[in-house]
Amino acid sequence: METQFAFIETESQEAEFQASLTELKGQPGGQMPALQEAQRIYGYLPIEILERISEELEFPLEELYSTATFYSQFSFVPKGKYTISVCMGTACYVKGAGDIIDSYATELKIQPGETTTDRKFSLESCRCIGACGLAPVLTVNEEVYGRLTKKKADKVLVTYQKGE
Ligand code: FES
Repeated sequence: METQFAFIETESQEAEFQASLTELKGQPGGQMPALQEAQRIYGYLPIEILERISEELEFPLEELYSTATFYSQFSFVPKGKYTISVCMGTACYVKGAGDIIDSYATELKIQPGETTTDRKFSLESCRCIGACGLAPVLTVNEEVYGRLTKKKADKVLVTYQKGE
């Protein structure tokens, strides 16, 4: 089951997003830039924001969802401070990437695609990142960790868990 997050926005986020919506009102195809603005300002697409777009731009909510689901740039859950992305490409998979992601999911108590309730970690699986020589590989934000064993992968996670 997906974790639920309370939607909180700052006054400046609200003002910035409202200005975008006002600008996009009445523009054909305005829903796409509105979604992009929402993703940029809030870091994900909360239901409250999708409803606001639907109302202001007079665009059906269901179609907004369909559009947002189609493009991988949009996310329906907030990202954690650290996004852990485990490569599940063939080279990594045959070298045990499945065990690593399972162990991370158990330790963080979330499934791939989810974020921990403290918003510290997001867990994802990804396709080959072109570092097959280092398989199995994972990234934490921009950092790449390769030639992982389960023990080494556990150590990587502990390092970030201990971080601030
Ligand atoms: S399969 Fe993982 S980097 Fe290529």
